[in-house]
Parts: sequence; C-alpha cells; structure tokens
Amino acid sequence: MTKIFAINGSARMDKGYTHIVLSAFLEGMEEANATVETVFAKRLKIRPCLGDFQCWFEKVGECIQKDDMESLFPKLREADILVLGIPIYFPLPGEMQNLLNRLMPLVEPILEFHDGRTRTKFHDDVKISKIVLVSTGGWWEKENMTLVVQFVEHMANDVNVEFSGAVLRPHAFLMDEYKEKGEEVLSAVRRAGAQLVREGRISPETLDTISQPLIAEEELRARYNEVYRKAKEYSS
Ligand SMILES: Cc1cc2nc3c(=O)[nH]c(=O)nc-3n(C[C@H](O)[C@H](O)[C@H](O)COP(=O)(O)O)c2cc1C
Repeated sequence: MTKIFAINGSARMDKGYTHIVLSAFLEGMEEANATVETVFAKRLKIRPCLGDFQCWFEKVGECIQKDDMESLFPKLREADILVLGIPIYFPLPGEMQNLLNRLMPLVEPILEFHDGRTRTKFHDDVKISKIVLVSTGGWWEKENMTLVVQFVEHMANDVNVEFSGAVLRPHAFLMDEYKEKGEEVLSAVRRAGAQLVREGRISPETLDTISQPLIAEEELRARYNEVYRKAKEYSS
C-alpha cells in the first residue's frame, strides 16, 4: 500500500483554499488505496535550521534540535510520496520554508555531480520516491506560481527523487463563486491524486482542467483593484 505524507504550509490552515485543494487531492489518493497523513506546518513547533551541519558531519542523520520535527522524521522516512501543499506567498510561507530547511538530516552528505549540477540524495532509510506540489494562488495566471514550482522541482532533483508535477489552482478563491466550475476543478484534483497513485503520473489534461481560468484576466484584476479602492475610500 502506498504511503502518503502531506504537509500543508498554508498560514490559514484548514480555513484556506490550499486545504480544500489538498484535501481533494488526498481523497483521490485514498480512493486509489493509499494511506494518507497530513500535518499543518503552522501548527507544529519547528525552529529554524541552525545551519551548522551537525546533522551531516557530527551526528549523521540526526537533528540536535528537540522540537516537533522529531515526530515528523519517522513519518517522512516511511512515506512513498511526499505531498507539499504550498500557497503562493511570494514565494512561500515561512513556516513551510522552515520545515523544508529542517529536512537536511534526511539527506546523505555525499555530493555528486549529475545533470550538470552538484546534487545529493536521501539516506537509504528514506523511502520517498516522489515529491508532488499542490499549490493555490490568488492572482489570475498559473505562471505567477512558477517560482514555487521551480523551487519544489529543484528540491526533488537535488535529492534525486522524482518530481511528479504541480497541481496548480490560481485564483482559487473564485471556486466558491463559480460553483459548477469549482466542482469540476475539485473532481479533477481528486482524479489527479488517484492517477498519481495508480499510474505513477498525473495526466496533462487533468492538470489543465485544474488550472482552468474561472474568470477573464482583466476582470480579476479589476475586482482586486476595486476592493482596494473601496478600502482606501473607507479609511480616508
Ligand atoms: C504574503 C502573500 C503573498 C502573496 N503573493 C501571491 C502571488 O505572488 N501570487 C499569487 O497568485 N497569489 C499570491 N497570494 C495569494 C495567495 O497565494 C492565495 O490567496 C492562496 O490561495 C492562499 O492560500 P490559503 O487560502 O490556503 O491561505 C499571496 C498571499 C499572501 C498572504
């Protein structure tokens, strides 16, 4: 049975759109018989990485900081697929960045050169073979989300693990208003989760359905600008 470990990095946790999209993705994975566990990065007490490489060159594979990362390490080692739920925060929420920095003890300190760059790999006791991104943004274009996609892709490549793609939902908040399309999107998100577990990949058509525009580009910008105009009017 495929084991999934998911981290939701949204500051709004279970009130956010990342939760809605990530939950649908994980439901799809469960439908395909995977076991799923999710944590909210913000709910955990995770201090920033000390940056002193003790986990690489002194106590290899161990972090000397005693906080909630301790309970995450065994779960991360056992997972087959790591799912990162990240809202776009220009580029990503701090709690998530903190947590990802603290993954260093899982990485073997052997530097290798392949695909034109210096890279590492996970220790042999880490089962993760795929990393997938589930992301929501507020602006219109999914291209606005590229930095986080590249970040997660680089991270996967750097530890020699497959990057299984990015489930991207731009202007996610409009799924509430455009209910019919919103449902279509969420059912495609569920399908994406099931596809990844059953077929090992998410089809490009499914990803396109998930990221489909819900409104015209200019209209979205006009709506944001109108909210700001009213807020300014009210506060002056
Ligand atoms: C600090 C900050 C920066 C943001 N920057 C962007 C951005 O560059 N592009 C974008 O599409 N959305 C941006 N957003 C909007 C969020 O990505 C969007 O509202 C997302 O759905 C929030 O996830 P949540 O509902 O789980 O909190 C930003 C939000 C915040 C709070």
